[in-house]
Amino acid sequence: MPTESILFSPVRIGRIIVPNRFVRSATHDFLSDGDGFITDRLVSLLENLAEGETGLIITGHAFVHPTGQASPRQIAVFDDRFLAGLKKIPEAVHRFDSKIFLQLSHAGRQTKKKLCGCEPLAPSSVADPNFGKPPKKMTARNIQDVRTSFVQSARRAQEAGFDGIQLHIAHGYLLSGFISPHTNRRTDDYGGSPENRYRLIAEIIQEIIDVCGPDFPQIVKLNSTDFIKDGLEIADSLQIARWLEKDGIAGIEVSGGMAEAGKGSVWKGVRSEEEEGYFMDNAVRIKQAVGIPVFGLGGFRTFSVMEDAIQEGSADLVSMSRPFIREPHLVKKYREGIIKKAACISCNLCFNPRGISCGALKKVNT
Ligand SMILES: Cc1cc2nc3c(=O)[nH]c(=O)nc-3n(C[C@H](O)[C@H](O)[C@H](O)COP(=O)(O)O)c2cc1C
Repeated sequence: MPTESILFSPVRIGRIIVPNRFVRSATHDFLSDGDGFITDRLVSLLENLAEGETGLIITGHAFVHPTGQASPRQIAVFDDRFLAGLKKIPEAVHRFDSKIFLQLSHAGRQTKKKLCGCEPLAPSSVADPNFGKPPKKMTARNIQDVRTSFVQSARRAQEAGFDGIQLHIAHGYLLSGFISPHTNRRTDDYGGSPENRYRLIAEIIQEIIDVCGPDFPQIVKLNSTDFIKDGLEIADSLQIARWLEKDGIAGIEVSGGMAEAGKGSVWKGVRSEEEEGYFMDNAVRIKQAVGIPVFGLGGFRTFSVMEDAIQEGSADLVSMSRPFIREPHLVKKYREGIIKKAACISCNLCFNPRGISCGALKKVNT
């Protein structure tokens, strides 16, 4: 019986208990309004995931500072005026057993002036050809502002009723840019050695603890590789994972990739069971290095593959994004034994600036 599976056993993330091992990985749903305010469509989408028994839901990346907007119709969290809208999310999700975390992010150099309102900010002025001109190297003042904006955004998440936050340290965005030796060429306290490249993150975590208390769970999505020459590699991530645990992080979701590498985190055409869990090799290594829960990720679709990953101790939770776009009640369907594998074919037709939707399903139905 699927219900007897370890996938349906609860797991502790810091102070909170997640009712099962399934995580909706952060997914930018393109469902905020043009100014970053929460819409009823977004609340319904997240509520539907909760009704479908998703253990932990992580929102799409919410931008913590106006200079950190990466995408249109992204959730904004940089000001108290967004609080009233944000509150509607936990209110709706908590009608069910699911937990909900807000993902906090700053785009860094992976954005354009028309979105972020200025020359994009980055640890160093290293250009990414996908985004045109080199970004502006952050001043000490910029770093201080961004640190404060992460902390204040975590405070808003807590006030809004979220169960925790996830710091986005992956995919080439700002915090991922700081830990990467490719994009961080600074020679001050925030660059050079691995400790210095990690410093901003350590400061953010500590200040969030000071403001939100040690019981408010902070987890991270961490790049385990940038897939780029001179970039971050698994050996760096292992060290960072240990520091994250020491500094109070309650869980690590293991991802990889950055835009400049031409290889990101959302791989197309995952077909066979062997291709599922494409960041698992790195997740296993991180799991061996830390004692906190590790989230496996990347192309998971088949119940038995995910069950094996948890059973073998390769990860503690399994995260998915695209399968939930097609089947928001995926977890319930697994539990009821209706399906053994998600219908998602990893075609990436779900990216839709008018609101995520399964493009493959639409094709079938037209
Ligand atoms: C439409 C879409 C939006 C995404 N938005 C985010 C995001 O906001 N933050 C993030 O960390 N990852 C984001 N991702 C990446 C996913 O969380 C996940 O890491 C990746 O898709 C691999 O999982 P999957 O194979 O189950 O889709 C997004 C992916 C998709 C398809």
